[in-house]
Amino acid sequence: MKAKLEPDCSPERAFEILITHRFGRMSAREQSLSEYARWEARFAPPEYAFGKEPNYFLKSCKTLLPQSGRALAIADGEGRNGIWLAQQGLDVLSLDFSPAAQRKARALATKRQVEIEFVQADVHAWDYPESAFDVVVEIFAQFSSPYERAEKWAGMRRTLKSGGLLIVQGYTPKQLEYGTGGPKQPENLYTRAMLEREFGGFGDLQIVEEEREIHEGTSHAGLSAVIGLTGRKP
Ligand SMILES: C[S@@+](CC[C@H](N)C(=O)[O-])C[C@H]1O[C@@H](n2cnc3c(N)ncnc32)[C@H](O)[C@@H]1O
Repeated sequence: MKAKLEPDCSPERAFEILITHRFGRMSAREQSLSEYARWEARFAPPEYAFGKEPNYFLKSCKTLLPQSGRALAIADGEGRNGIWLAQQGLDVLSLDFSPAAQRKARALATKRQVEIEFVQADVHAWDYPESAFDVVVEIFAQFSSPYERAEKWAGMRRTLKSGGLLIVQGYTPKQLEYGTGGPKQPENLYTRAMLEREFGGFGDLQIVEEEREIHEGTSHAGLSAVIGLTGRKP
């Protein structure tokens, strides 16, 4: 059963209703509101924490993108990746739970003269529509615990059309040695074996592990251990 939103409620209230529906009244406050507040505080300053330019790995996937179609940008934050996808001719839905990030994403989209649909929702609980997107992109969304990741990735698989393109970029456990961005929980980081287990059935599967300098905003800065995946849903 879906959560019922109150008509004309604020984004903050809408989010509280959604997570209360998902976790129950007590744990909603304990678990997700603190995480939500953490991201809101992080996005409060006017600077773009992850920069305004697209992630380097996403940009390197340009030739794989269709010339038109729908793209879903998971946890798209301040919009740099969703906006770039829209500039490539795609109809983009930018999904994130942070109103502060989405305000900045809207401003950047206006400045870049592209239209994007924004949805404020928890990516672990969103009702991913079946076979709705030609492209699904997840860039640095490693806030998910293993349980949450399973929910999120099941939704992402479901919502991709057959033949649709999946693009994922995240940090590997080696990133804990560099400390130049990303989560501190080792279980949230991605390995080749994990990606092969989850997406091994995808066509044209490419997984690239590398250590490289990344400078994307102030939040991702320095030598980094990253892994990127591209593949097509069977
Ligand atoms: C590391 S940032 C990356 C943002 C963007 N993908 C980029 O590369 O610039 C992680 C994003 O996930 C969002 N986020 C964290 N937990 C979330 C959740 N449960 N549901 C939706 N968004 C979430 C945050 O608001 C933030 O925008």
